[in-house]
Amino acid sequence: MTTKRAVKAVIPAAGLATRFLPATKAVPKELLPVVDRPVLQYIVEEAAAAGITDVLLVTGRGKTAMVDHFDRRPDVEARLEEKGDQKRLAAVRRSSELADIYTVRQGEALGLGHAVGTAASHVGDNAFAVLLGDEFVEEDKPLLPAMLDLQEKTGGIVLAFMEVAPHETSRYGIASVRTTDDPDVVEVTGLVEKPSPEEAPSNLAVLGRYVLPGSIFDVIADTKPGNGGEIQLTDAMATMLADGVPVHGIVYRGHRYDTGMPLGYLQAVVQLAVQREDLGEEFRAWLTEFVGGWKG
Ligand code: G1P
Repeated sequence: MTTKRAVKAVIPAAGLATRFLPATKAVPKELLPVVDRPVLQYIVEEAAAAGITDVLLVTGRGKTAMVDHFDRRPDVEARLEEKGDQKRLAAVRRSSELADIYTVRQGEALGLGHAVGTAASHVGDNAFAVLLGDEFVEEDKPLLPAMLDLQEKTGGIVLAFMEVAPHETSRYGIASVRTTDDPDVVEVTGLVEKPSPEEAPSNLAVLGRYVLPGSIFDVIADTKPGNGGEIQLTDAMATMLADGVPVHGIVYRGHRYDTGMPLGYLQAVVQLAVQREDLGEEFRAWLTEFVGGWKG
């Protein structure tokens, strides 16, 4: 069992994003902009804000632009410097200064468990964080720091949960839990991937943030395809739970932005745009008028 705080993050981002076709024929969905930053930057910023600056992107064919986004752009920087546009210059540099970005290829889309498994040699035996590439949480209500602290204390698996409506259980990993002395922390007693509402043991859904021990890689290697014919991370975690590895969860009370589907993506753009200091006021005024005059 490990007691060292996780210092590396893995971001599975190899998916084909069929829900966003044709936009994602040539552009990875992780690079779709939410106002003026790609989704992936919000996620790397979330890791960096929690002190994790070693980030492994699990990528696939046609997705190398994701790595370019975190590289320097000396030509663009020189042009902005010439123009004296310090604000944009800082924004362009910022994306290349957030973290050290590494990549590994997931040659075939065999599931989330398989994607995480490709990180084995980069991560080694240490605990590490996993941040799914299409969701992020509120910047001023971070989740990862508390998860990293808890994992350092308990040594096992630490998850994050959100409460979902009963009809939504079939979209998520769902846990059965026991309460603890801490009202925000639960002890996990069972995990099942995408159960029907009748089969779901609770309405606590696994949110796309995990802190996992390095020992999960051997378990993933032995995990057979499950729900949807894919090698599921949930199944590997359920095996570890059955083997006595402690699994805890933090119940997240903030807002989770889900950009994995067009509706959630649009909501995220609007929710973040109305909060922006530079354009929020004007956008709110326009939005109010637009909605008020909407005739359908
Ligand atoms: C994945 C996981 C699921 C989790 C969800 C969170 O599902 O398999 O357990 O609840 O992410 O977004 P996916 O969205 O890849 O189908």
